[in-house]
Amino acid sequence: QELDLLITGAEIITAADRFSADIGIRNGVIAALGTDLGPARETIDAGGLLALPGGVDAHCHLDQPQGFGLRMADDFASGSRSAACGGTTTIIPFAAQIKGQSLRAAVDDYHQRANGKSCIDYAFHMIVSDPAPAILEQELPALIDEGYTSFKIYMTYDDLKLNDRQILDVLDVARQGGALVMVHAENSDCISWLTDRLAAAGKTTPQYHATSRPQAVEREATHRAITFSELVDVPILIVHVSGSEAIEQIRWAHQRGQRIFAETCPQYLYLTAEDLGHGHYEGAKCICSPPPRDSANQDAVWQGLAQGTFSVFSSDHAPFNYDDPQGKKLKGREQKFQYIPNGIPGLETRLPLLFSGGVNGGRISLHQFVALTSTQPAKLYGLYPRKGSLMVGSDADIALWDPKRQVTIRNSMLHHDVDYTPYEGRTVTGWPVMTLARGKLVSKDFEFVGTPGAGAFMRCDKPML
Ligand code: URP
Ligand code: ZN
Ligand code: ZN
Ligand code: ZN
Repeated sequence: QELDLLITGAEIITAADRFSADIGIRNGVIAALGTDLGPARETIDAGGLLALPGGVDAHCHLDQPQGFGLRMADDFASGSRSAACGGTTTIIPFAAQIKGQSLRAAVDDYHQRANGKSCIDYAFHMIVSDPAPAILEQELPALIDEGYTSFKIYMTYDDLKLNDRQILDVLDVARQGGALVMVHAENSDCISWLTDRLAAAGKTTPQYHATSRPQAVEREATHRAITFSELVDVPILIVHVSGSEAIEQIRWAHQRGQRIFAETCPQYLYLTAEDLGHGHYEGAKCICSPPPRDSANQDAVWQGLAQGTFSVFSSDHAPFNYDDPQGKKLKGREQKFQYIPNGIPGLETRLPLLFSGGVNGGRISLHQFVALTSTQPAKLYGLYPRKGSLMVGSDADIALWDPKRQVTIRNSMLHHDVDYTPYEGRTVTGWPVMTLARGKLVSKDFEFVGTPGAGAFMRCDKPML
């Protein structure tokens, strides 16, 4: 039977292997790996390129409604398009429960938001912000069984945070259902106390965002989450780890034999608290939580990636325009750091930033790169082996990388709907020059060539922990 597509000449890189083979694709799936694979309707000559499993971005926020007249800049069309142009072929954004809302209503709402828009396959994590009895006893277990096998909980943010007792309760539901809980670990009361003290002293410019959330508040909450995981006897994943102090807690847990997974993001490798500025408001562009730290902490995060402390590398894309009253500039409110929406864009730049500094910078191997950005998130979130590798039978989600291509990042070349990138003017080496999602080109030579709505929703299997 004729192949739909044959990719010739690339060197195939997975989390475990490196070999030269042609890739035969039929019906969106890898049908064969080898030589002389026979006739195909189309052929892509990928000589000199590396074929990597497309990226799985397991932490991104798209089209999440915000309070205070704020609005996220990316929906599922622009977010997925941007991801595809950066070599990512699977996204797992959040279906966020509003307090008082049923979890199922939240999931239904996000299906509406995504429907017909995403150009690449997607799944959902839930955000559980209101663990009322009916949610814990009925909705959450049912949704886990229906393929929503991971959810995020927050230890901070007034409209999202759970108290310690509630965290124990939801962890217990995850244990019973075999789900994976992602934990945003920062101590809420410490942050609000520090914020009030800064505000009273008139210190409200963006730089004080970092002062209000020092590593101690992340370290303490990370330790507390690890303790809860031990008490309930369920693995957890600590998201967006920013520096050495939280890393120490995670290593401590690993040494005690606890199954604690950890995620970090490009902002903790490439930005520092200095990027929040010195009084000038433009530092708002780099406000995210936890905040970026300093160069010593960047080194600690690199080491954690190299040593296997981290399992997952995600963008935490949380897109707000800068020069927009609905974004970082704050319509009708005082321009104070504590009101600035948290989050930075990064779906498209995630993989090139890690490839450049990590693989080309000699800090991690190509196999580690694939593991961190594709294979391990696919396994942890129940999408493997459909996603996360290049095997016969896997979806033909393939990023063809030119490992030596030098690119100076400009917001004007990116495909999100955000009016800035925190990485403006940075030069990276290595870029995915062609990306295929289920055997169809979605990006080629920095242009989007995919189709909105071509991506399918995927139910997740139970995490492979
Ligand atoms: O600042 C951030 N990271 N905003 C997005 C929401 C979150 O906590 O991941
Ligand atoms: Zn978070
Ligand atoms: Zn400055
Ligand atoms: Zn996030």
